Amino acid sequence: MCGIVAFCGVKNAITPLLTGLARLEYRGYDSAGLAVIDPQAKQLRTIQRVRQEGRGMVEVLREAAAEAGLGDDSQGITCGIGHTRWATHGAPSVANAHPHCDCQGRIAVAHNGIIENHGRLREQLTAEGHTFHSQTDSEVVSHLVEKHYALQNGDLAAAVRAAVAELSGSFALAILHRDYPEALVVTRNDSPLVIGSCATGAIAASDVPALIEYTRDVCYLDDRDIAILHANGSVEYFDPAGEPYTPNTYHIDWNIKEAEKGGYPDFMLKEINEQPRVVRDVLKGRLNTQAKTLELPELAMTPDELAAIDRVYIVACGTSYHAGLIGKDLIESWARIPVEVRVASEFRYANPIISSNTLVIAITQSGETADTLEAVRLARRAGAHVVAITNVIGSRITTEAQTTIYIKANIEISVAATKTFLAQLCLLALLALFLSQERGLVNETQIVTAFEALQRLPQQIEAVLADTTSIDAAAEVCADATTVLFIGRGVGATTCYEGALKLKEISYIHAEAIAAGEIKHGTLALIDPIVATPVVAVAVASATHDKMLANIEEVKARGARVIALATEGDERVGELADIVIYLPPTYEQLSPVLASVALQLLAHRAAVLLGRDIDKPRNLAKSVTVE
Ligand code: AGP
Repeated sequence: MCGIVAFCGVKNAITPLLTGLARLEYRGYDSAGLAVIDPQAKQLRTIQRVRQEGRGMVEVLREAAAEAGLGDDSQGITCGIGHTRWATHGAPSVANAHPHCDCQGRIAVAHNGIIENHGRLREQLTAEGHTFHSQTDSEVVSHLVEKHYALQNGDLAAAVRAAVAELSGSFALAILHRDYPEALVVTRNDSPLVIGSCATGAIAASDVPALIEYTRDVCYLDDRDIAILHANGSVEYFDPAGEPYTPNTYHIDWNIKEAEKGGYPDFMLKEINEQPRVVRDVLKGRLNTQAKTLELPELAMTPDELAAIDRVYIVACGTSYHAGLIGKDLIESWARIPVEVRVASEFRYANPIISSNTLVIAITQSGETADTLEAVRLARRAGAHVVAITNVIGSRITTEAQTTIYIKANIEISVAATKTFLAQLCLLALLALFLSQERGLVNETQIVTAFEALQRLPQQIEAVLADTTSIDAAAEVCADATTVLFIGRGVGATTCYEGALKLKEISYIHAEAIAAGEIKHGTLALIDPIVATPVVAVAVASATHDKMLANIEEVKARGARVIALATEGDERVGELADIVIYLPPTYEQLSPVLASVALQLLAHRAAVLLGRDIDKPRNLAKSVTVE
């Protein structure tokens, strides 16, 4: 989704704005722009704006800004806003690129989100004499602030507050006024915005990477609150009634290196390779070796509450939803509680059966996915206990759920989720084991044995990463195909859903995942012997291994080229499949962790062979903050 950066300080604003926009590129965008006040140009008294259409535009924007006299060395320019746009209303174009101005070019606005009542506001403002220059929903904000600025006798914060009261939908807004060269106003509703101060000024952005170079202590706004960023670095916070308050400060301990490629050709490959470390971090401190018990204090539920849970819903979107599907198997196998996994965009409009004994687990790496947030609100209204599993400290979900468990994967830049997915899986395994322990279903030895299996995973992932010969060969087969089928059984099937999504989203090859037993009920017709349709079969050691072998035979007999994932030493799969990717042995329930690493590498390699933009796949955004 769109990215916003706003800086107001005593030194050059261009550098933090452009650096911040570059660090938000991962969110996906199709145009970029910035607007600044040049206090030297007092006679002009207008905002200077530079906007560019297309991807890779932050660099072009930098050049265009320099040409317009707004170079990195523009010491006189100390206050400005920047934006990367991911089009929703109006095609990608310069006219639709942000920031958007009011009629007189005195106000500039950068917006992330969707103004749902923009149509009515636009009509009303047009009737009142305002002229619009874009097709965006966002432009209504600049005109609305212009209107209220006049009504509020030139009080920018009051004008923004009055404008915000008229807006419905989701928004993070950064607002610049030429008469306020030493202050900026920001606000938000259901869209992320993070604020910090540093020695040279105050900065706000859609996500932490944009400001991590300047500060690691950040604050978040509640819905419809307003913050004023001052050039001296101070920030004033106000609730919607205009009452000042002091927000909580969160310390971000991510290293700036996390936001850099560190020698890898792209962030996705870097993040795939970080997974052994991520899994170690998820497990750190979870086993009390003296008492031989698992510890999950963040769950913050009493033994009685835990014992009373009679149903679990897992709600999530995309890759996080796939983690939920695997989590269902873990919780049902180990803790024997019925689990339903629901896509958040469906759950929020369904009529789920929820009571005070229902545990709702909301999984979202970004903590900002609009549908997941809404599903959480629904669950809380219905009386469920809601626990959030997220990666982003202070993100929106953490304020909506009763409790939050962080996966501590550090920032993930690539749009394709990899390390956060693995961290989610390992955390769900811990949660399943913990629920099982608290309900008295496992003894100390079983806990320690299962935990040891988890502890072996980082080394086993390293082994998968170390030898990619078969994966590379499989990627060549997939890169030549127009369709790739993924089949598996049990957690093997759910692993396939994620494997197929990864391949689709970064290579643009059509992929479909299906429970292997279902293939003969229709999908088998897609296997074309002329092109030898590739079939990726997750056939690791499992209770249904023999059945998987039969399914491999079935697709082979129809002319498929089989790429199998098998457990080391499995010669039977070796005899049947065209290519075998061997994985170290682990519990069946934990096998998705290792298989997913292999499938991430497969998707990555196929996408590289096809020359795709790995970290920023077309049409996609890292965090989906609109419905
Ligand atoms: C997958 O690679 C995507 N990034 C996407 O499916 C993602 O998992 C989904 O949009 C949900 O995001 P969240 O975890 O931040 O809620």
